[in-house]
Amino acid sequence: MNDAIDRPIGVFDSGFGGLTVLRSLVEQLPNEDFVYLGDTARAPYGPRSIAQVREFALEGLDHLMERDVKALVIACNSASSAVLRDARERYDVPVTEVILPAASRAIAATRNGRIGVVATESTINSASYDDAFAVADILLTTQACPRFVEFVEAGITGGDELLAVAEEYLAPIKKAQCDTLILGCTHYPLLAGVIGYVLGNGVTLVSSAEACAQSTYSQLTQANLLRHQPREALRAFLTTGNADDFQGIGRRLLGGFVTNATKVTIDKENAHV
Ligand code: DGL
Repeated sequence: MNDAIDRPIGVFDSGFGGLTVLRSLVEQLPNEDFVYLGDTARAPYGPRSIAQVREFALEGLDHLMERDVKALVIACNSASSAVLRDARERYDVPVTEVILPAASRAIAATRNGRIGVVATESTINSASYDDAFAVADILLTTQACPRFVEFVEAGITGGDELLAVAEEYLAPIKKAQCDTLILGCTHYPLLAGVIGYVLGNGVTLVSSAEACAQSTYSQLTQANLLRHQPREALRAFLTTGNADDFQGIGRRLLGGFVTNATKVTIDKENAHV
């Protein structure tokens, strides 16, 4: 009997966006328990330096490990970019992230070899997607879209202002004639409507959330850690910010999916709560 299989999966994000990854995880792994940690007190990570995002992300992942999780999901593109190289060495559980699964899905999807990536500034500056595509014969166009996160968190997914911003951000993707676009930020699946509207049906949108969930499924299956018996699974929500705010914004973004949240402290200078 494998006790490890009964433990929850830890999911880490800078804040709320990783809930789109959690939603995909719940769809693809419905019998698993999840502990979701959003570092909302220090979000957004997008405008921060890679060194700082790395420090914060490792604190969050260490905190989840202390909760005895059987696997870690880095459900944040900025955090994945910052710790891609060392998270797998640091932890003795399967670790999945959002960059490499999205890159391999995009490679499978493209017909003309021209792929675009839209993401936060820290993800674009880290060159994590450039590295992920280095071995493939791909013409990559990357574009930081800092204002997209603001729109999503304000609950705005349409309207003239967003459309104008989307037109501007996506102009280089159109110009490069990309036929595949990676939504390389956890918030962007919620903007798939406006992005698809601007780019048209000829462009395949790849959600890093879905690709990450599929990669998690594969890794757990290979490690013999996947719960496949039907059961009522548990989800716990932890936030470093205000618990009521987390629940309110989480519910607004993803409906009744988010239940009561608990506030925790994860930065090493303060004691854990
Ligand atoms: N979760 C972040 C990401 O996927 C977006 C929000 C933030 O900047 O913290 O890059």
